[in-house]
Amino acid sequence: MSSRIVLLLLSFLSVASSSRGNGELEILLTLAENLHSSALPNPFSTWTPSSSSSPCDFDGVACNPSGSVTRIDLSGRSLSGTLNFTSLCSLPSLEMLALSFNSLSGSVPADLDRCSKLRYLDLGNNDFSGSFPDIPSLGELQYLYVNKSGFTGGFPWGSLVNMKKLVILSVGDNNFDDSPFPEEVLELMDLNWLYLSNCSIQGMIPPGVGKLTKLANLELSMNSITGEIPKEMGNLVNLWQLELYKNGLTGKFPAGMRNLTKLENFDASLNYLEGDLSELKYLTNLVSLQLYMNDFSGEIPAEFGSFQKLVNLSLYANRLTGPLPEMLGSWAEFDFIDVSENFLTGTIPPYMCQRGKMTELLVLQNKLSGNIPATYSNCTTLTRFRVSNNSLTGVVPPGIWGLPNVNIIDLDSNQLDGGVTPDIQNAKSLDQLFIANNKFSGELPVEISKARSLVAVDLSNNGFSGRLPQSIGELKQLSSLHLENNMFSGSIPESLGSCDSVSAVNMANNSLSGEMPPSLGSLPVLNSLNLSNNRLSGPIPSSLSSLRLSLLDLSNNRLTGQIPVSLSIQAYNGSFSGNPGLCSYTISSFQRCSFHLGMSKDMRKLIVCFVLLAVLLGISIGLYVCLNRRERAHERSLKEESWDMKSFQVLSFTEDEILDSIKPENLIGRGGSGNVYRVVLDNGKELAVKHIRNAADCYGQKKTQSTAPILGTRAKRSREFDSEAETLSSIRHVNVVKLYCSITSDDSSLLVYEYLPNGSLWDRLHTSRKMELDWETRYEVAVEAAKGLEYLHHGCERPVLHRDVKSSNILLDQHFKPRIADFGLAKILQNSGGKDSTHIIAGTHGYIAPEYGYTNKVNEKSDVYSFGVVLMELVTGKRPIEAEFGESKDIVSWISSMLETKNKHPELSRLKNTRGLQGGCHQSAESCNPLHWDTS
Ligand SMILES: *[C@@H]1O[C@H](CO)[C@@H](O)[C@H](O)[C@H]1NC(C)=O
Ligand SMILES: *[C@@H]1O[C@H](CO)[C@@H](O)[C@H](O)[C@H]1NC(C)=O
Ligand SMILES: *[C@@H]1O[C@H](CO)[C@@H](O)[C@H](O)[C@H]1NC(C)=O
Ligand SMILES: *[C@@H]1O[C@H](CO)[C@@H](O)[C@H](O)[C@H]1NC(C)=O
Ligand SMILES: *[C@@H]1O[C@H](CO)[C@@H](O)[C@H](O)[C@H]1NC(C)=O
Ligand SMILES: *[C@@H]1O[C@H](CO)[C@@H](O)[C@H](O)[C@H]1NC(C)=O
Repeated sequence: MSSRIVLLLLSFLSVASSSRGNGELEILLTLAENLHSSALPNPFSTWTPSSSSSPCDFDGVACNPSGSVTRIDLSGRSLSGTLNFTSLCSLPSLEMLALSFNSLSGSVPADLDRCSKLRYLDLGNNDFSGSFPDIPSLGELQYLYVNKSGFTGGFPWGSLVNMKKLVILSVGDNNFDDSPFPEEVLELMDLNWLYLSNCSIQGMIPPGVGKLTKLANLELSMNSITGEIPKEMGNLVNLWQLELYKNGLTGKFPAGMRNLTKLENFDASLNYLEGDLSELKYLTNLVSLQLYMNDFSGEIPAEFGSFQKLVNLSLYANRLTGPLPEMLGSWAEFDFIDVSENFLTGTIPPYMCQRGKMTELLVLQNKLSGNIPATYSNCTTLTRFRVSNNSLTGVVPPGIWGLPNVNIIDLDSNQLDGGVTPDIQNAKSLDQLFIANNKFSGELPVEISKARSLVAVDLSNNGFSGRLPQSIGELKQLSSLHLENNMFSGSIPESLGSCDSVSAVNMANNSLSGEMPPSLGSLPVLNSLNLSNNRLSGPIPSSLSSLRLSLLDLSNNRLTGQIPVSLSIQAYNGSFSGNPGLCSYTISSFQRCSFHLGMSKDMRKLIVCFVLLAVLLGISIGLYVCLNRRERAHERSLKEESWDMKSFQVLSFTEDEILDSIKPENLIGRGGSGNVYRVVLDNGKELAVKHIRNAADCYGQKKTQSTAPILGTRAKRSREFDSEAETLSSIRHVNVVKLYCSITSDDSSLLVYEYLPNGSLWDRLHTSRKMELDWETRYEVAVEAAKGLEYLHHGCERPVLHRDVKSSNILLDQHFKPRIADFGLAKILQNSGGKDSTHIIAGTHGYIAPEYGYTNKVNEKSDVYSFGVVLMELVTGKRPIEAEFGESKDIVSWISSMLETKNKHPELSRLKNTRGLQGGCHQSAESCNPLHWDTS
């Protein structure tokens, strides 16, 4: 009897337990149904639905001894899909749920509160949506991670009241509603780790924070926290890391900070803190100290020089004075110093690279003096060496020029002397060399052309002399070359013409002589050329006609002969003055050319010897006709060519109507790529027609920028045209100029656009036709134009780069609504294959993003930079380049220095504070500070 009962009981138990097991199996299998993993191996491949399988064998699952699931850990397994928490939380023994670093989506329902046994919950780093639910029943929780998981709304701080066992609370990086510092947190006495960065916390840090004495990590960065650091912070003596950067903290470090002696990482950058740093001199365990962009003053404590673990120190943009400790950085594997933009005196500490690990030395804009320590000449790990704007003297230790990993050497504006040494050939990574405004002298070593990474070189305002290296053409990455105000002599190296990336060349105020090399005309992206105040002689090479320069200055030389007709335009007014030997057909301030002046001496002899006056006349008529062909050709022959019309909209006009109107009376503008005509149709409608010629010009050079070898056969249509037509035809947006149709023939192309009566923003702001734009209008123009640009970048099937955003390419309709025009340079980006950059520099001087110049890479950001310049024009009414900004300064550096010196232009006070311009930045001055834009 009793044995029967026992048997019955046993079988009952086994049924119960197996049904429980099967229930959990079911739950997990349903869970897996809604989830996908792209990880290899796929964790779900072991999650098999056979009756013999146990969930305890599933990958990522663990059970207790009685076979019930206690842990699910699928962190970082490339999961996507949604979770059914209703079902999940019916697992009766679940203690740990770790799903971080996946792409889980959907909302997390209140059913999560049924997972009441949970001790460890990690949903961080996912793409959930909605608000995080109330979880008052999860009283056993010790670890709660929901950082960067996509939640919004209010966080249920009240639930924390029941979670007295919490050790780690990580809630940051979510777009929660604004809230004050949650008082509920202050009762979590076991808390060791509190991560509340970047989650919309406002107001003061409550003094009660001092109760959380077990805290080892406290992170409150990137919020809107104001007020002073409470003195109770000094109670948190177990802190190893304290992160307060990017808030609105004010006042001084409270007395008591000195007691945080375990602190290794401390970052309070980007606040409004003031006072001195003396409270930190006891924090001898500091590894990384970041206090940049505050208002700290006083001296850097001498004790920092004996901190044995310090490897990173960033104190830039404060008001610190006094010297840097001599032994600073000499103890540990020191990595990084940025103390730029202070008022530091004394010398550069010599031992920071003692352990051979240092990567960045940035001390620009201080009052440092003495020599550059020779200890850095074998610091081969250095990538950035920037000591500009100090009072350093003496000779640069030779090894510095040849550091193999250095990307930037910036010695600008000191009193350094000596020369650049040949070991610069070892600087294989050097892309930016800025040594202007010093007392350097001697010849430039030919070995500089072995520093093949060079992109930007500025040697201006020194005492360099001798000839320029003939091999300079080997610098294929070179984009800007500034040699002005030196004593260079000899001729301009012919090989400069093979620096295919060069966009700006300035050799003004030297003693260069000889003829200008014709090869300059083949530089495909040259944008600005200044050779003024030299002793250059001979003719202006006709090849220059094929360049599209926004700045050309050849004044005050000894040039002779004819100014090429295509260069005799308004924009180059003054470019040729001070050359008494030059003549022109069109510019009245020059002597009028008699034909022989336009030809070489040999030619002249030939003519004198062999040719009769009649023949000469014949030739000159031919030459004249040819030179004027571009302007006149259309009058003669447009109708004779055979045209092919491609329309992108329903049209109310005919090809003939357009062709008839292409005549000089209707010319309204000349763009880089062609002339623009205004056409009035019979029905009164106005159109703008851009005429682009494809044929070779008189000198046999292509007008288009295509590189020579591709043009073995005559390209029938310009690449520029094709890209414009292709791009515009796919675009429909109220803030982008409408293209009605394109009409092409073998020799030229016509683009028919809508006509915008108010011309360009440039005209309205800067020219004789400028007008008072009220703030309302300017604001509208800014916002609407931004919408147009945004559409180009994000609204089309494929992103469209404009590549020449400037105020003259923003046109205004009768209501001053802006439209973005001129996609002559636009390029549709391939969505596939990551071809997101292109290697042809385009754009207009003053609008070109600095990194564009250095890297030759363009992406949407380059357009955004250019658009920023337009905004600055719009706010200040200034042009991007004005003499008043000072030499080689543009509107960006001008505005930056304005904001920096708080010497506010009345209109600039509208740009609320300097941070607005700087965006999210951290660690290094260079990415943040607009003052560095022009150089870094
Ligand atoms: C979640 O699972 C439960 C129980 O298995 C089920 O009733 C419910 O419909 C599921 N919810 C969703 C949204 O699939
Ligand atoms: C953010 O969450 C992940 C897990 O989701 C965690 O590993 C990481 O430590 C958290 N970061 C901070 C600062 O708390
Ligand atoms: C700040 O939080 C947002 C979500 O609100 C996130 O997208 C962003 O990446 C976070 N910033 C940083 C620096 O982690
Ligand atoms: C630092 O800690 C010591 C020892 O706990 C204490 O006596 C002292 O008052 C604290 N200093 C400050 C400034 O709070
Ligand atoms: C020091 O700074 C460098 C450069 O910003 C960074 O890569 C490194 O992780 C930092 N080291 C420490 C210990 O903070
Ligand atoms: C540079 O040379 C000095 C003296 O020879 C040596 O002590 C130091 O370790 C060297 N530094 C590096 C980075 O090689």
